[in-house]
Amino acid sequence: MKIAIVNGPNMNLLGRRQPEIYGCRTLHDIELSLREEFPGVDFLFFQSNSEGAIVGELQRLGYDEAGVDGIVLNAAAYTHTSLAIADAISAIPQPVVEVHLSNVYAREEIRRRSLIAPVCAGSISGFGAAVYSLAVRALM
Ligand code: DQA
Repeated sequence: MKIAIVNGPNMNLLGRRQPEIYGCRTLHDIELSLREEFPGVDFLFFQSNSEGAIVGELQRLGYDEAGVDGIVLNAAAYTHTSLAIADAISAIPQPVVEVHLSNVYAREEIRRRSLIAPVCAGSISGFGAAVYSLAVRALM
């Protein structure tokens, strides 16, 4: 199985950024844990602070990278604003699972709206770094 893990803006600061909300683990820690937990999965990891780069990567994973079975996406703040990312998810054949480390429904009003949820296979929010592992299981 080949699964891509795509992370959006400010996720490169994980571990240092508001640890009371997002925890102490870095994106690299999460990558290592996933590789250890799922040795049979071929993982691709991508992070960008740019909306266009995330759209480009989703297109690439959908059409140019061979054999991608599913995508785990933490679009971070773009979750709440990006019609372009929602359209990119709709445009590709693979299932996309939306994840958030924090429980976005327990936070500010703006974070309770996801433009990508309606076009994703499902959403997992609020279980810290475990959301990535749960999303991989959902795709298996
Ligand atoms: C987040 C939640 C978003 O609202 C926020 O903008 C993020 C991270 C999460 O993983 O909890 O950057 O996606």
